Amino acid sequence: MGVRSVSSLIRSIAGLAVGALALSGCGSSLDQSGGGSSGSDVKVGLLVPLSGVYAPLGEDMRNGFQLYLDQHGGKLGGRTVKLVTADEGEGPQTGVPAAQKLVTQDQVTTVVGVVNSATVLGMRDFFHESKKPLLVANAGADAITGARKSEYIWRTSFSNGKVSGALGPEVAKDVKGKVYLIAPDYAAGREMVAGFRKAFEAAGGKVAGEKYTPFGKTQDFQPYLSTIRASDAKAVYTFYSGAEAVSFVKQYKQFGLAGKTPLYGPGFLTEGGVLAAQGQTAVGVKTSLHYSTELDNPRNKEFVDGYRKKFNEPPTVFAVQAYDAAAVLDKALAKASGTGGEELVKALGGVGPIDSPRGQWSFDADHNVQQKFYLREVKSSGGTFVNAVIGDLG
Ligand code: PHB
Repeated sequence: MGVRSVSSLIRSIAGLAVGALALSGCGSSLDQSGGGSSGSDVKVGLLVPLSGVYAPLGEDMRNGFQLYLDQHGGKLGGRTVKLVTADEGEGPQTGVPAAQKLVTQDQVTTVVGVVNSATVLGMRDFFHESKKPLLVANAGADAITGARKSEYIWRTSFSNGKVSGALGPEVAKDVKGKVYLIAPDYAAGREMVAGFRKAFEAAGGKVAGEKYTPFGKTQDFQPYLSTIRASDAKAVYTFYSGAEAVSFVKQYKQFGLAGKTPLYGPGFLTEGGVLAAQGQTAVGVKTSLHYSTELDNPRNKEFVDGYRKKFNEPPTVFAVQAYDAAAVLDKALAKASGTGGEELVKALGGVGPIDSPRGQWSFDADHNVQQKFYLREVKSSGGTFVNAVIGDLG
């Protein structure tokens, strides 16, 4: 090998090393501030599933956060954002170490994201003890803004008990007879069913049966659907999301239950790409959620247009929750006296109302979102399918 080719080899190895550093977000080893930011930059960790049944949700959240950044010149609170994205995977085994790496190795100022309730519960103590702010942009685990709340944890999404409970009185009023409850066997599945059941029974509703399916492993729902058909249920309430929601709703129709035994659930059941894949099989499904692309307000119209232009598809609740997390950080970083955990959480306490595509909302005293829930029904509209808003659930 000649001198010229050796030096070009060294140059390209050096180039690769710099590139790898930038890609892995490890520039923090050169950052002397220790606070995940230098000068007018801020390093933000985005932790969302890029693999597993919830990968489509992660993609939507990434898009929502990126759209806000693009609309604001790549800055939050006047600081240029360096975004470090990590894969949450399908549960705490992958999600917790990924969060720890973002904080300890990449030295981000804050982490945004987390889809899965079990995963957020698994990382709660780490964020609380390391005094790093975590903005939960999906996971609904009730305790995160309840029994195990932390001054370092804030949520821009919903809690499982509230989004599911919102539909209880409506179903009790609509259905003349008992309702069967079915959900994936993990924290969110159990909390969604419990939240719905409490509100439904308080409104006079009766339960025909309750079943939990192995999370992330169930593709064939036929045995469960047979049990439902053999029961005296007049309707079904379910929580599935991502890939599981597509299989459940399609098989519900194929099994002949759709139309005869109305299907209800939290709106994740028929959201975004999931609804596109379910198509006609989802028509008539009624859900409760804090967002729909169909909400008739100027802020939402502008958001839907911007999202469609950039990503060539309609936005979802997951995108909105991450978009709003960026809006919250924008306000908090503008107010904060620095990017340390304590300074940032103090500023988070003063962000005030958020002007969101879902309608205006604010943090409550436990750092959960105070918001309105909508009653939605899947309808076909102009050759596609939408979650039409058919009522307010308070
Ligand atoms: C959760 O695990 O909290 C969860 C996951 C997916 C959803 C909603 C909640 O769509």
